[in-house]
Amino acid sequence: MSQSSVINLPESIGKTDNFEFYSCSHGREILNSENFSPDIMNYLEGESKTIQEVIINYLEDYHAMLEVGCGHARNVGVSLRLGLKYYGIDFIENEIVTARRKLKEKKLSGHVKCLSVLDLNKATTPVPASLKTVCIFPFNVFGNIFEPVRILKIMHDLNYTMLISTYRQDADKDAVLSYYKACGLNHVKAMTVENGTMFVTKEGFRSIVYHSDYLYDIASQLGLVVDSFEFSKIGKLYYIR
Ligand SMILES: C[S@@+](CC[C@H](N)C(=O)[O-])C[C@H]1O[C@@H](n2cnc3c(N)ncnc32)[C@H](O)[C@@H]1O
Repeated sequence: MSQSSVINLPESIGKTDNFEFYSCSHGREILNSENFSPDIMNYLEGESKTIQEVIINYLEDYHAMLEVGCGHARNVGVSLRLGLKYYGIDFIENEIVTARRKLKEKKLSGHVKCLSVLDLNKATTPVPASLKTVCIFPFNVFGNIFEPVRILKIMHDLNYTMLISTYRQDADKDAVLSYYKACGLNHVKAMTVENGTMFVTKEGFRSIVYHSDYLYDIASQLGLVVDSFEFSKIGKLYYIR
């Protein structure tokens, strides 16, 4: 079965590009740690710890980490602790400005760039071609972009190993819904779509948690191998190479 590049979503969902959402004030709230419930704090701690463990246990001789949807350079500490050069991309200019300020103030080395992952290629990547790279997708950013096959192809072309952090399919949906509500988002609901569970809000935010089977299927069609690790109450990390 061949997979189309853009996933099928019910028409009622409307726009599927989160750029406008992330550009407005609501978008900032989703990255504001004051809105993180204990379940989300626990998820993010488990995420960083699991990324670190997978890199230590499975990835040998890597030189660089590229964080997609890096926000304020969330995982720069993990990267530098592991001796990896840190790079980040985010498609919101303000996030990149804040990330640069943080790197400068904390005297951390790293390079961040305003770029959508969908425009990432050999010419645009901030990572020098000579560096063996692990690309991380934290905090379900992979589920914010509705072209999973295209992203896997981009990573494959760049020869980047991927670590994708998302929520478990069987996770208590209320843990995620209550976080979105704390961010001031309205009419938040979870709905079942073809390849996973989608969270939608009145403000135009859309985020999908893919079924494991779907991710394994699209990865294997590109000849990629997948392993996964569960962490915290709700987290799951996919290791794809
Ligand atoms: C880390 S995620 C957080 C997702 C949210 N917590 C959730 O539950 O789905 C959001 C970050 O990814 C960035 N982002 C979203 N789509 C992107 C894309 N296509 N390319 C680069 N950055 C993107 C956003 O600007 C934001 O800083």
